[in-house]
Amino acid sequence: MTSSARPLLNRSLAEFGTTIFAEMSALALRTESINLGQGFPDTDGPEEIREAAVRALRDGRGNQYPPGPGVPELRLAVAAHQERLYGLAYDPDTEVLVTAGATEAIAAALLALLEPGDEVVALEPYYDSYAACIAMAGARRVPVTLRPSEGRFRLDLDELRAAVTDRTRLLLINTPHNPTGTVLTREELAAVAELAVERDLLVVTDEVYEHLVFDGAEHLPLATFPGMRERTVTIGSAGKTYSFTGWKVGWVTAPPALVSAVRSAKQFLTYVASGPFQYAVAEALALPDTYFAEFRADMQAKRDLLASGLTEAGFEVFTSAGTYFITTDIRPLGEKDGFAFCRNLPERAGVVAIPNAVFYDDKEAGAPYVRFAFCKRNEVLHQAVSRLQRLAS
Ligand SMILES: Cc1ncc(COP(=O)(O)O)c(C=O)c1O
Repeated sequence: MTSSARPLLNRSLAEFGTTIFAEMSALALRTESINLGQGFPDTDGPEEIREAAVRALRDGRGNQYPPGPGVPELRLAVAAHQERLYGLAYDPDTEVLVTAGATEAIAAALLALLEPGDEVVALEPYYDSYAACIAMAGARRVPVTLRPSEGRFRLDLDELRAAVTDRTRLLLINTPHNPTGTVLTREELAAVAELAVERDLLVVTDEVYEHLVFDGAEHLPLATFPGMRERTVTIGSAGKTYSFTGWKVGWVTAPPALVSAVRSAKQFLTYVASGPFQYAVAEALALPDTYFAEFRADMQAKRDLLASGLTEAGFEVFTSAGTYFITTDIRPLGEKDGFAFCRNLPERAGVVAIPNAVFYDDKEAGAPYVRFAFCKRNEVLHQAVSRLQRLAS
């Protein structure tokens, strides 16, 4: 300890403390509860992709520092994926950057593009690293709160417009959206795009759940909207799509000047990461469409199982049109404080969930919402659902 009164932790990070995921995962272990808190699958991704990683390791591909922008095979595969699925053409040499998961892509993009005094308009509730990275960049977050209406969380376009000021540097978008499970509609995305063009804003869009869109809907990348490709940094990740969250392989696609800016920050974060896994993910991105269709159908069935169990247990369940998550309202259970509810849930029902309030600046707006992850084996979900019925009695 120093003798000075100054706190050890940089003051811009003081409000962030330990993430709720660490607290809740520890609680799950201590109480032997089923952990539907943190969003990671409890089964690993495709065998052939694991084998591809083993082959890369054995063949000595990626065991030493890979190239700063990512191995050429992966950059090519990312560009081919964007073209095949969305008709978005990116040059693998100048418009694709491989990162240590989407987490690093978010950090590098925000550190590269923001300066102190800039404002970032972000959808609230937001993924927890956004607020921390905006703070590390010395910028200010301006939340626009998604609110439930007719069963889903919606973006209020007037609120979005009103949030933009002369200091706004960028819009930070996330669709499919964690934690609400909402997928922005074509109209909502078109309005975001129009606003970005009209106010000449940069856009960072986190689309890590692009392959987890349910009920026959399609993922609509923001970069496909008019005027957006040239101002948009799109973030993807292999973690969610291939159930390898521990590999930490993510990527950015954007025009050359934006990629170059993001790379400047990224080189001083990790420089490079996940060498052998980059080769394996390159193979994963080339899997046939049937892989994505099966993965999506499997996750959709899990969503349905958990959603009906939560409804029977007495929660109000909002439509999860995408992601790994279902957001619920606990008020029908006679509860109003998600934090207290989640801290007691292990004792009451042997299940761990996450209070959505941690994803809000406006804690009151988030207080009654609780998030459950359904990316778990069916037997685990069945058991969780059966335990949760105790709340109904
Ligand atoms: C919206 C969102 N963005 C980014 C990430 C981080 O992705 P990665 O594991 O690739 O760093 C997550 C992980 O939960 C997420 O939910």
